[in-house]
Amino acid sequence: MTRVWSAAVVGVTGVPVEVEVRISSQLPCVDVVGLPEAAVRESISRIRGAIAASGLPFPDRRVTVNLAPADLRKNGAGLDLAIAIAILAGGGSLPPEAVDGRAFVGELALDGRLRATRGVLASLLALRAAGAREAIVPAGCAERARHAPGLEVRAAPDLAAVMAHLLGGERLPSAASLCEGRTLEDAGGAGDEDGLPCLSDIRGQPLAKRALEVAAAGGHGLLLTGPPGTGKTLLARRLPALLPSLREDERLEAFCIADAAGIIAPEAAIPDRPPFRAPHHTASAAGLLGGGNPIRPGEASLAHRGVLFLDELPEFDRRCLESLREVLEQGVVRIARANGTWELPARFQLIAAANPCACGAYGSPGRDCRCDDAALARYQRRLSGPLVDRIDLVVGVGEVPWSVLNGPVDGPPSAVVRERVARARAIQQVRGFAPNAALPDARLDALVAAEPAALALLGRAVERLHLSARVARRLLRVARTIADLAGRAGTTSTDVAEALSMRQVR
Ligand SMILES: Nc1ncnc2c1ncn2[C@@H]1O[C@H](COP(=O)(O)OP(=O)(O)O)[C@@H](O)[C@H]1O
Ligand SMILES: [Mg+2]
Ligand SMILES: [Zn+2]
Repeated sequence: MTRVWSAAVVGVTGVPVEVEVRISSQLPCVDVVGLPEAAVRESISRIRGAIAASGLPFPDRRVTVNLAPADLRKNGAGLDLAIAIAILAGGGSLPPEAVDGRAFVGELALDGRLRATRGVLASLLALRAAGAREAIVPAGCAERARHAPGLEVRAAPDLAAVMAHLLGGERLPSAASLCEGRTLEDAGGAGDEDGLPCLSDIRGQPLAKRALEVAAAGGHGLLLTGPPGTGKTLLARRLPALLPSLREDERLEAFCIADAAGIIAPEAAIPDRPPFRAPHHTASAAGLLGGGNPIRPGEASLAHRGVLFLDELPEFDRRCLESLREVLEQGVVRIARANGTWELPARFQLIAAANPCACGAYGSPGRDCRCDDAALARYQRRLSGPLVDRIDLVVGVGEVPWSVLNGPVDGPPSAVVRERVARARAIQQVRGFAPNAALPDARLDALVAAEPAALALLGRAVERLHLSARVARRLLRVARTIADLAGRAGTTSTDVAEALSMRQVR
């Protein structure tokens, strides 16, 4: 019996898979245990073809392939290489010690070439944890595979090259050496911030622009409300350009998810900008939160370490929004399955936009709202639901006068605001909790360091507007961010007043 290591991806988590091959002296046939039937048929024909095309013998006896753990629904294709190697080792084409400590990830083509598979980074991280010393991956995956720490990763173009390496012939190059000298720009990713839409494209809307800056500086959730055509979508799409670049560990986390979801080209570099996801309001619960079988990450996870933009917020399915509230608080999506609960990371910054009513005219001067009372109430209930309750900043966006819309560019460009945001974030880092949106309740008073006058102002607002304690704490966090943007040690009443101006809930 021969055992070879590979890995599959469930959700965004790599899971080591043991490929066991037994060859018995019965009539030639192949049995596979532990894969869905359709996937088995496909992979066996690919593997047969690849072995033949590489000029290697397929065992002329009964081959039983067992994939463990058996209860795990596997994607299949990424296991091809490991199954082929196990069959070849079982058939005597490889000495057993050639596969010791080695793991194999990759899909085979009929001609023996190795195809890039999604999820290679998550797979490698799992294999390292399981004790693999060397991993062999398709050359097409080298760019991302080289980032797997603590493991020797080698990249192969085809099955024949893998066999040569295992038999002590020509060594496979390491994934890192294959990509040597490549910069982020070469790989067509990262760094090109100038390509992002700029804040100065937007005329007027000073309050909304300032709210974007505060949201970026403190990682606060932001809801923009206002009539159609006032630039809400335009504004929201400019948030990512204001955010700091991701740290190395955050980049890897975000990239692992995108890789597992298969949403980026295999040869693409790991971007250093935070992800930005803008799902349509017709998105299903699985599309938004993740799910399916095998489990796939949803938009909430694809936005991990970045921004989730929900345009036309009240149009989203109500239950989806309810679930999203929990995700927003916990930073993770939990999916229960027979074989355990799977966690998909989902720590994102939420930005949302909404019209004031279904027809969009409610509350704007000179326009008649065509919604009846019941419809209006229903719409506004959705806008004051539990999710909105957890959004720190709620800002109205009004119509921009024609003269401003056609006037000169106003307000600072994104690059200038990003500088200010970076300085405010650096202050938060020193304080030990970043961003401010995540300041812990227990230490809030000490960390916010509000002056007595600031607390008195907040107290009066709480009474007059009947604000909940939760909203009051949110306002303190926002005020702290405003003080950080100004470089103030204490939080003043000016900061609280500005925070209050950015919490416009009907
Ligand atoms: N403040 C603004 N500055 C510049 N263009 C604007 C502004 N507001 C709206 N526009 C123009 O109107 C279009 C619609 O804006 P959009 O962001 O989609 O509005 P909303 O999401 O509020 O309905 C934009 O593509 C842009 O051309
Ligand atoms: Mg819009
Ligand atoms: Zn209306």
